[in-house]
Amino acid sequence: MRKLVTVLMNIVLLIGAIQEGKSHGDQPLSTIAIHKTLFELNEEAYVKASPTVLGTDGRHSDWVLVEYSSPHPSEDDWIGVFSPADFNASSCAAETDYIDPPRLCSAPIKFQYANYSNPDYISTGNASLKLQLIKQRADFSFGLFSGGFFNSKLVAISNRVVFQNPKAPVYPRLALGREWDEMTVTWTSGYGIDFAEPFVEWGITKEDRKRSPAGTLTFGRNSMCGPPARTVGWRDPGYIHTAFLKELWPNSKYTYKVGHRLYSGALLWGKEYEFNSPPFPGQDSLQQVMIFGSMGTAEVDGSNEYKDFQHASLNTTRQLIRLLQGTDAVFHIGDISYANGYLSQWDKFTAQIEPIASTVPYMIASGNHDRVWPNSGSFYHGLDSGGECGVPAQTMFYVPAQNRAKFWYLIDYGMFRFCVANTELDWREGKSNTTS
Ligand SMILES: *[C@@H]1O[C@H](CO)[C@@H](O)[C@H](O)[C@H]1NC(C)=O
Ligand SMILES: *[C@@H]1O[C@H](CO)[C@@H](O)[C@H](O)[C@H]1NC(C)=O
Ligand SMILES: *[C@@H]1O[C@H](CO)[C@@H](O)[C@H](O)[C@H]1NC(C)=O
Ligand SMILES: *[C@@H]1O[C@H](CO)[C@@H](O)[C@H](O)[C@H]1NC(C)=O
Ligand SMILES: [Fe+2]
Repeated sequence: MRKLVTVLMNIVLLIGAIQEGKSHGDQPLSTIAIHKTLFELNEEAYVKASPTVLGTDGRHSDWVLVEYSSPHPSEDDWIGVFSPADFNASSCAAETDYIDPPRLCSAPIKFQYANYSNPDYISTGNASLKLQLIKQRADFSFGLFSGGFFNSKLVAISNRVVFQNPKAPVYPRLALGREWDEMTVTWTSGYGIDFAEPFVEWGITKEDRKRSPAGTLTFGRNSMCGPPARTVGWRDPGYIHTAFLKELWPNSKYTYKVGHRLYSGALLWGKEYEFNSPPFPGQDSLQQVMIFGSMGTAEVDGSNEYKDFQHASLNTTRQLIRLLQGTDAVFHIGDISYANGYLSQWDKFTAQIEPIASTVPYMIASGNHDRVWPNSGSFYHGLDSGGECGVPAQTMFYVPAQNRAKFWYLIDYGMFRFCVANTELDWREGKSNTTS
């Protein structure tokens, strides 16, 4: 008698209903009319931030204490975090066309009300905040603003703070390659190919390691389709590297770390991580995958809150991490970071998912908040991507597609073939948007 082969697959659907619409469409950073900000520096006001060097123990996120004082405190005073620290309007790029005369040309990467931790700020004028920062290549400074979010006046600017090794390689994300026995590693750094050679050192855990080179991508302000991505939301994305780890043995535990070989000969290393290689296609095996969309990112220090925008993503991320053991792959099928044109948020997102994406393949597809922009080839019309028109999503994450901008791909994994389609482009027959 033939043995019945039981094929089991657990699909953990974390987010059943992908609701769309205004409820999660407004990026909190868009609530600040930064381009209308005036300079009204007050000698009696100050902001100071400490410590000035962050992450001295090698960590990629750290806490900073921001202390400030204003002679004319008001309930709608706020603190903005800027990165790079030099957010002086005189360095505005020409593309930020609606700044005339030049004022501030970059949105903050974070904001919080000045009274958040000290309700008596309104009477004393003194308060402090504890904020979490992540390593994202540049330094940081803090501004104290009066006049709320619509008629902001910059009252005081802080000293700079910076991470130790601010450009170090961070936030590795795995993705399955075009063959079943190929894993790709993508990460972010501040080192272009003129400065250092990127690579991954890897091998079966406790066995010999080898090195594989990585390719390097980036994109410029001109690759953005419109504001705010092209204007106040623009922030240099650094360099995005991808290496291909090939001819993996099936069902094996691998160790890897990313590195950069500087032309001076010095080596810079990321942290060490592990992943499990896929089973042979057709191997009788249990697969557990997590499929969800519309996650976004949020701040653990309570900043950047607006109408509960994506706050639940912290819970979802924690839950995904809890379920990682035994998980083969994650499919985040669109609406990835909800940066909506505020590019600093892509670093924030990749930092938030690091425990997941560094351990299991993090496969993405395209969503309206990643792709939709008028006259840019998207099937739908609207401003949902905030001018990103898909460029950050397709650069920050690798997918094994013929054309990464089109997000049509398939993956053979154990008992399954996963097919990923894309409805953000015209998928109708004869429209040829599927493969090339
Ligand atoms: C701080 O200011 C905000 C904005 O004006 C206000 O909504 C909030 O109630 C204030 N919080 C405290 C603790 O006073
Ligand atoms: C901005 O930079 C210009 C030129 O470097 C300088 O003159 C000006 O004082 C700066 N403004 C502020 C507010 O720092
Ligand atoms: C606010 O802080 C300044 C110095 O940082 C101090 O001189 C002043 O007395 C404080 N004001 C209040 C009301 O605590
Ligand atoms: C996060 O989960 C906890 C319980 O696990 C729940 O009490 C809380 O309301 C959740 N927060 C959000 C924002 O969903
Ligand atoms: Fe969504």
